[in-house]
Amino acid sequence: MNAIRTVAIVGAGLVGQGWAIVFARAGKQVVIHDARENAEAIIGAQIEKAVADLVEGGLCDDAGAILSRIRFARDLDDAVSGCDYVQESAFERIDVKREVSLAIDAFLPAHAFVGSSTSGFPGSAFYEDCKNRARMMVVHPVNPPHLVPLVEIVPTPWTAPEEAARARQLMEDVGQSAVSLSREIPGFVLNRLQGALLDEAFALYAEGYATAEDIDRTVRDGLGLRWAFMGPFETIDLNAPKGLADYAERLGAMYSGFAGQRKANRDWVPEAVARADAERREVLPAGDLDARRSWRDEMLMRIVKAKR
Ligand SMILES: NC(=O)c1ccc[n+]([C@@H]2O[C@H](COP(=O)([O-])OP(=O)(O)OC[C@H]3O[C@@H](n4cnc5c(N)ncnc54)[C@H](O)[C@@H]3O)[C@@H](O)[C@H]2O)c1
Repeated sequence: MNAIRTVAIVGAGLVGQGWAIVFARAGKQVVIHDARENAEAIIGAQIEKAVADLVEGGLCDDAGAILSRIRFARDLDDAVSGCDYVQESAFERIDVKREVSLAIDAFLPAHAFVGSSTSGFPGSAFYEDCKNRARMMVVHPVNPPHLVPLVEIVPTPWTAPEEAARARQLMEDVGQSAVSLSREIPGFVLNRLQGALLDEAFALYAEGYATAEDIDRTVRDGLGLRWAFMGPFETIDLNAPKGLADYAERLGAMYSGFAGQRKANRDWVPEAVARADAERREVLPAGDLDARRSWRDEMLMRIVKAKR
């Protein structure tokens, strides 16, 4: 099996830029191809800023070394034909994913493999016509990938199991935290878990049980404190004297009762969405969203540092 020295980033918006930092920080050579005009000037400056923030946050110390490993390709051929792995992070549109996957396929070296950052499409919806589809899969990050390490590896029906295993190994080697799905499902694991929580949050809000602020507070100052270092199974394992099965015995009936109450109403009621949005805009005017995103990334850096 070839060592992975060079990674091609195809599409370098928010997510592709984070990926470039992940790989360069781990010592890989990174070659970026992005279709937009002035890509090198715009994206280069954004990556420099993100790396400087990492240094300021105490999460890395040699910005120069990271940046020296990143270069911009002349075109897609230049990025892909000399690489060992491709991380595709183009627009989330099925026609774009199909087209860009076929273009990558045409230049892919015989030993290299491909992961798409797609948030929602199964790989089988866009890799079907690729001749190298046995070496292609979804490698779904959380934004921004250089701060949030989780990655979901989702094979298509054609992905060779050893290629999915290689992707997992690569992710671990570059410091990400990999989850391997056995097969495709819309939303993968992360967004399905998030979806279950959002469904209940909207239902409680629509029915007027609590404000959006108090529902957010329940996660921020309650559930979420634990979730930064343990998942739902470990949480309940520690919350009953004899562990998980004991918890299920004590509280399983209560939870299945909730499921019965909610079966009819899993939609996000438009009126509740509008009201929750208005409540959020009172607390955070639209013009302040970007500043709050920077604050979020700063908080993420502090949590990542605390977890080390
Ligand atoms: N933003 C998130 O929270 C998030 C999280 C996880 C996964 N993703 C996924 O990552 C991917 C990228 O998302 P993003 O938020 O970075 O989007 P974005 O719009 O910020 O960036 C997309 C980039 O791809 C470039 N591009 C588009 N078509 C291209 C092509 N054919 N060849 C080369 N470059 C091309 C664009 O110029 C742009 O710079 C999407 O599939 C998205 O679903 C996003």
